[in-house]
Order: sequence, then structure tokens, then C-alpha cells
Amino acid sequence: MVQAIRGMRDVLPEEGRRWRTVEHILESVLHAYAYEEVHLPLLEFTELFSRGVGEATDIVEKEMYSLADRDGDSLTLRPEGTAGCVRVLQQHGLLFNQTQRVFYRGPMFRYERPQKGRYRQFYQMGAEAFGMAGPDVDAELLAMTAAFWGALGIESSVRLEINTLGSSESRASYREALVAYLSRYESELDEDSQRRLVTNPLRILDSKVERTRELLSGAPVLGDFMDAQGSTHFEGLCGMLETLGIDYEVNPQLVRGLDYYNLTVFEWITSELGAQGTICGGGRYDGLVEQLGGRPTPGAGFALGLERVLLLYEQRNLPTRPAADVYVAVMSPAEQVYALKAADRLRLSVPELRIRVHAGGGKLKNQLRKADQCGASWAAIIGADEAAAGAITLKQLKTGEQATLPIDEAAGRLRPSAENAH
Ligand code: HAM
Repeated sequence: MVQAIRGMRDVLPEEGRRWRTVEHILESVLHAYAYEEVHLPLLEFTELFSRGVGEATDIVEKEMYSLADRDGDSLTLRPEGTAGCVRVLQQHGLLFNQTQRVFYRGPMFRYERPQKGRYRQFYQMGAEAFGMAGPDVDAELLAMTAAFWGALGIESSVRLEINTLGSSESRASYREALVAYLSRYESELDEDSQRRLVTNPLRILDSKVERTRELLSGAPVLGDFMDAQGSTHFEGLCGMLETLGIDYEVNPQLVRGLDYYNLTVFEWITSELGAQGTICGGGRYDGLVEQLGGRPTPGAGFALGLERVLLLYEQRNLPTRPAADVYVAVMSPAEQVYALKAADRLRLSVPELRIRVHAGGGKLKNQLRKADQCGASWAAIIGADEAAAGAITLKQLKTGEQATLPIDEAAGRLRPSAENAH
């Protein structure tokens, strides 16, 4: 039997049900903030990511799934959604002189070392806001993410870290000072950091290697290079977060792994998932649209890793919805068509109800065992009498109570089971 590729997770029905609940909750919050969904292609020209995400990032250097198209073009399975989102809105004339608030979801691909919470195909939900340069929209994005955790009931498991990278000018002078400082200790740096000293020095701040971390404790701090624009923006954001009651910590070492950020960057972190603690990350990227060939347009956004959010959500041990709410048992083949029709009537009157109709015949006892196995609370039993009367016999599986009712009345009895279900 052919096996799955390493790092590509299979989602089985039980997890699929939880997934749907979580995704539905996230989607409701995005809709409540009036963000609109866009669908982005999975494949883009490789150049989009090398120019957008940055040549010297881990993603572009070593994690992309790239392939040559039949005509020789280099294509890449999207490792993230922001660059693609900019491409789509730009190409369709939706950026210049406009504001946009959009979201997207779907699988992303990165050739990383797989472990719990880190996969080679993973699922993101991301939101991007364009055309708004002030900290108010940064605050809105953070309020929306805070609303996610509240709606999922995981707010006590996560904390927010924020930082500012300043303007590109202040970052350039900081970069110079950091390189000058770290060059003095070059031989003591770990191998990755030595390489980054040339390619992407700010990423060294992210290093987890102990000796490098020690050296960093004496390094110049980005905050000291901040210009007026950077400080005003950051102070503005902090003030709004305080007014909104969103707790945060400033982490001066937070730089993020993608090159397009300026000013605000943030991550939502949990300590409950081991090494893969970042469940959501984002920030402002005012230079990205121009870098990809558009006219200057400010932007900010975030993406969350759905598998990681799901791992946290699972820890709440909430009861999950069963595979079916109602199992329709059919006494003999003569009633099968009536059973299908009756089930459709129920589905139309209570659309949230999950109704599974037995197929394949067999004894009533075996059919009721199947009803139990799929977790249904109700069996709808259909025999010749029910078919003749336009009725069904509803049996509550827990108590054994049953009654024969016209279909619409039965629908009324079932309605409460479907309330609040996703
Ligand atoms: P990112 O930090 O690379 O940012 O990814 C966002 C989130 O995706 C992470 O916080 C994590 O939860 C999840 N994630 C990343 N890699 C993996 C993986 N290998 N396995 C499982 N989950 C993973 C971005 O992608 C930016 N596009 C976010 C953004 C949007 N910034 C502005 N707008």
C-alpha cells in the first residue's frame, strides 16, 4: 500500500468534525468584522515568493516545494498567503486608492522538519487589510484575533507578543550596528547565524542557540534606532490595545521569519504545545505591494495555523458532535424509497440536522447498533405502517422512548437537537 508523504497529515472523520467546528467559529468572527473571502491559487510563479517573502529567508532558501512546469516555468506550491493575496488584488485592480479587508484559508506547503504542530502541508486562515496606514487597523487585526480565542474558549492558553521593526531607514541603520557588534564575535556564533550575518542579520535575533543568545544580550537594541514615525505608530497601537483591554508584552527580539514586515509585528504564543508555540503571527508590510510591482499601498495582516489552534482546542475536552444525529432504520427493502424521501423532508425542515439513512438491509437490531455506533441520539424507524400513514417512528436511543408521528411533527421534536450545532 502506498503511504502518505512525510509531514502531510491525514485528517480522519473524528478530527474532521472538530476541525469544522473550529473553522466555523473562526469564520463567524471574520464575517462579523466584515472581512471578505478570497480564494488564492495553490501554485504561483516561484518569483512571487522569492521577491515577496525574501531571498534570504528560511522559507525561500530551503523550504519551498518548487517544480518546473512543462514549459520550463518555475512554479511553487504556496508557502504562505500574503504574497499571493497581494498578487491577486493587484492584478485585479483592487488595491490602488482603495481599502480592502480580505481573508483566505487553505493549505500551505513548507519543507520543514515535521514534529507535533509542524507539518509540511498545514492549513492557515489569514486576514489582510490594505490601504490603511495607521495603527488603528493593526489594533483591529489584533482585536479580531483576540475575539477568535475568546470564541474558541482558549484565551487563557495564549499570550500576545508585539514589537516594532521601525521604518526601513531606521532598520537599515540598526542592521549596520548589529552587524558591527556581532562581527566581533563571529567565530562564536552558531553556523546559521554566521551565514545570516551576511544574508539576513535581523533573523539572528530569533536564534535559539544558547551561546548566540548570550552574545545577543549585549547587542544594540532596535528600539534605540527608532525614528519618530516608528515610535508614534507603536505608541498609538499600544494605547489602543490598552483601551481595548488586550494584554500584550513587548518582545524587542521578535522579528518574524518573513522579510516583508515593517513597523508592527506580533505573535500569539502558547506554552502548551511544546516547541511549536506560535499559533498566529503577522504584522505590517507597507513596502510589499510596491516590491511586487504595484503602487505604494500600506498593508497589515496575520495568519494562524489551524492545526495548532485545533491542538489547543482539543485540550478543552469539549464533547464533539456525533457523526449523525438521526439514524434512519428501514424495516424492509419495500420502504427504502419512502425512508429516503422522509429523510429529505426532515433535512429540509431542520437543515442543521445530520441524518444518515441505513443502506444494505438487515435486522432492525443490527441497524440500531449502527445508530449507536455513529453516536446518534435518535433512530427514525420506518416500516410498512409508517410508510402507509406518511409517518415515522422516532425513538430516543438513550431512554428507549418512542412515538409514531407525522413527519413534520417529528421534525419539530428533532429541532432542539440541531440548535447551536455547527
Ligand atoms: P508565519 O508566521 O510563517 O506567517 O505563519 C503563520 C502561522 O502558520 C504560524 O504562526 C503557525 O501557526 C502556522 N505555521 C507556519 N508553519 C507551519 C508548519 N510548518 N506547520 C504547522 N503550522 C505552521 C505567515 O505565513 C504570514 N503570511 C502571516 C501574515 C499574514 N503576515 C501578514 N499577513
